[in-house]
Formats: sequence, C-alpha cells, structure tokens
Amino acid sequence: MILQLKNIFKGYGDPQKNNFRRVLEDLNLEVDTNQKIAIAGPSGSGKTTLLNLIGTLDQPDSGEITFKGTKITGYSQGQLAHFRNLELGFIFQLHHLLPQFTIWENVLLPVLPIKKIAGKAEKEWAEHLLRKVGIWEQRFQKPSELSGGECQRTAVVRALINKPQLILADEPTGALDEQNAGHLAQLLNHISGEEGVSLIIVTHSSELASQMDKVYHLKNGELK
Ligand SMILES: Nc1ncnc2c1ncn2[C@@H]1O[C@H](COP(=O)(O)OP(=O)(O)O)[C@@H](O)[C@H]1O
Ligand SMILES: [Mg+2]
Repeated sequence: MILQLKNIFKGYGDPQKNNFRRVLEDLNLEVDTNQKIAIAGPSGSGKTTLLNLIGTLDQPDSGEITFKGTKITGYSQGQLAHFRNLELGFIFQLHHLLPQFTIWENVLLPVLPIKKIAGKAEKEWAEHLLRKVGIWEQRFQKPSELSGGECQRTAVVRALINKPQLILADEPTGALDEQNAGHLAQLLNHISGEEGVSLIIVTHSSELASQMDKVYHLKNGELK
C-alpha cells in the first residue's frame, strides 16, 4: 500500500459559526502501489479538497494520512515541500506551465529545488518523456505556441520528471476536446503502467475512469 487516509474530516470556515461548510466526513481510502484509481462525483462534492489534502497543499481538520507507512499529517512545512517535490506529481485541469519559459525549461523546473541544476541523467529522462508524449520537436517553443492538448501532455512530463511514486490529476482532460482527452487518457494510463506509478485521477470522463483499476464516487463527504 502506498497511501492510506483514515477518518478524514475537512470543512471550510469557522466550525462555531453557521457559515461552516463540512466537505469531507470520516473519509477513508487506501491506494496500492501501482494502482490507478478514479474519483468521480458532482461539482462541489469535495474532489479537489480531497486531492489537496493528499497533495499536502492543505491539511485535514482531523484524521491521518500515511504515505508508504509514514504519517505525513504532522510534517513540518519544510518536510512537506520536500515530500511533494520528491514523491508526488501534479496534473491540473489547466496545464499551469510558466508562459515565459520554453517547454524544455518548464519540464525541468521541478528538478531545480532538489538538484540546483539539471544534469545529464535528468535531461536524458526529459528527452525520453518528451519523445514519448510526442512533444520533442516543440521543446524550444513557449506554451502559448502549443495547443491545449500539447500543453497538457507537457504537464504530464513535468509531473513525471522527478520519478514520483504517486500522480495526482484533477480533471486533467476537463479542458480538452474529445480527441485530445482520449489521447491524454491513453497516455496517462500507459505511462503510469510503464513507470510503475500510482495514479489518482479526479474525472467526469467515463472513458478515462473506465481505464482505471477502481472507480470511487464521492458523495456526502465519503468515498463509495
Ligand atoms: N477555500 C475554500 N473556502 C471555502 N469553501 C470552499 C473552499 N474550497 C472549496 N470550498 C467549498 O467546498 C466544497 C467542495 O469544493 P471542491 O473540493 O472544490 O469540490 P469539487 O472539486 O468536487 O467540485 C464546495 O462547496 C466549495 O464551495
Ligand atoms: Mg474540483
């Protein structure tokens, strides 16, 4: 097992006041090594909230998250930043590539906090991944010069560059047309299998969900 969430509660606002919004309620989840899961659920059900907790971008009100047997709830800010950079890859609905940098620079950026400079091994890995997703020829272009689908494929490379154990994707095909969405779904599925990473994908796409090992529905703060 790579990830375990136990009795997670999360809300927004002041619990003492009536504006308090309870989002996750006694939520439990286990993800195995190399497992691919999809999380579906209506808008506002708390899918992004859940991914933010797993991604340690936010903290639960109570409950415990363990990663490879180590409790990460309770890590210091410094430990969390290191953990996120080393163990996790993030893919969002919008690619969030930095517009002033080339594709090549964008995909190598996550290497810098760890290595200070991208070495031969990192550059070879970047080349391998860029070729695999079909963006190698465009590597010296800026994100604005690529299509939405190409930018999202670049975001997949960026997410994989530090060889994470777990990739978190929040509606990664949500902004793409059907054809590009299908292509990205195949790519994610294929690469995660080949690289042996676990995958948690929030998605409305039944095509993408059907390619995962397990599909959960988030409803009333719980996963079913
Ligand atoms: N920072 C926040 N402050 C207050 N309420 C929030 C915040 N983030 C999300 N919410 C609320 O929590 C609920 C779940 O949001 P979210 O996790 O974004 O849902 P989903 O991703 O499933 O659409 C929504 O009602 C939303 O309005
Ligand atoms: Mg969301």
